[in-house]
Amino acid sequence: MFFFNRRRSTYSDFSELALDMHSHLVPGVDDGAKDVSDSVSIISGLKELGFQYLITTPHTLQGIHPNTKETLTAGHALLAGHVPAGISIKLSSEYYLDEQFDEQLNAKSVMPMPGNRLLIEFSQISRPLDLEEKIFDLGIKGYQVILAHPERFQFFHRQFDYYKRLKEMGVELQLNALSLTGHYGKNVKSIAEKLVEKDMIDFIGTDIHHLRHLEVLKQVPGTKSFERLIKSGLLKNKHLI
Ligand SMILES: [Fe+2]
Repeated sequence: MFFFNRRRSTYSDFSELALDMHSHLVPGVDDGAKDVSDSVSIISGLKELGFQYLITTPHTLQGIHPNTKETLTAGHALLAGHVPAGISIKLSSEYYLDEQFDEQLNAKSVMPMPGNRLLIEFSQISRPLDLEEKIFDLGIKGYQVILAHPERFQFFHRQFDYYKRLKEMGVELQLNALSLTGHYGKNVKSIAEKLVEKDMIDFIGTDIHHLRHLEVLKQVPGTKSFERLIKSGLLKNKHLI
C-alpha cells in the first residue's frame, strides 16, 4: 500500500546493499567477535538482515590490537567450514594511521579491498596534523582511501567543509549504519544525515562488533536516510563484490 507523506522508508532489510565492508568478525583478534561461535552467530544474524557478502575489517592498531597480515589471516582461517551457506566472508582490516601502519605499508603487507582500497581511521580527539600528507602519500602508492565513519569524528562537526575537502582529495566516505539510529548520540546522527543529504557517502558499513549491534541494525533500513542512500545510486558497496 502506498501512503502519501509516509515517514518510513520502503526497505525492511539490507538486501539491496548486499555487501558489508566494515565489521569485526575475526575471532579473538580485536574488540569484536570473541571466538568462532560468537563470530558465526553474528554472521548468521547479518545473513538474516539480508547481507550476502562480508569483507571483515578487524582493527590494526599499534599497542592495542597490533595485528599483522599473519595474525588476521590465521584468525580468518578459523572460520573456514563454519560460515553459513548463502554468505561469504573475506578479509581486510581497519587501519589506524600510526607507525605500525606505515611499516606494513612499506612492507606491502597491508590487505586492501578490491580497487586497492584501504579503510582507515585515526584519533577521535583531534585531526592528525599530517593527515593530508598521508592521504596524498597513499594515493601515490596506488591506494584508494576509504575513511571509516567520518560522522563519528567530533572535531569535524564544527568544520563541515572539511568533509568536502576530503572528498576533493579523492577520499571515499563510509557511513556507519548505526549512526542513523542515534546509537552514537544525536550529534553524530545529525551529521550522518547531513552527509547523506549532501550525497557525500560512498559506502555504508555496519562496523558490527557484537550481537547487541544486530538488534540496533534492524532499525536502519526503515530510516529515510537509508532509503535515500540506496535510491541515490551513489553507493559503491556492490563494487566490492
Ligand atoms: Fe570499526
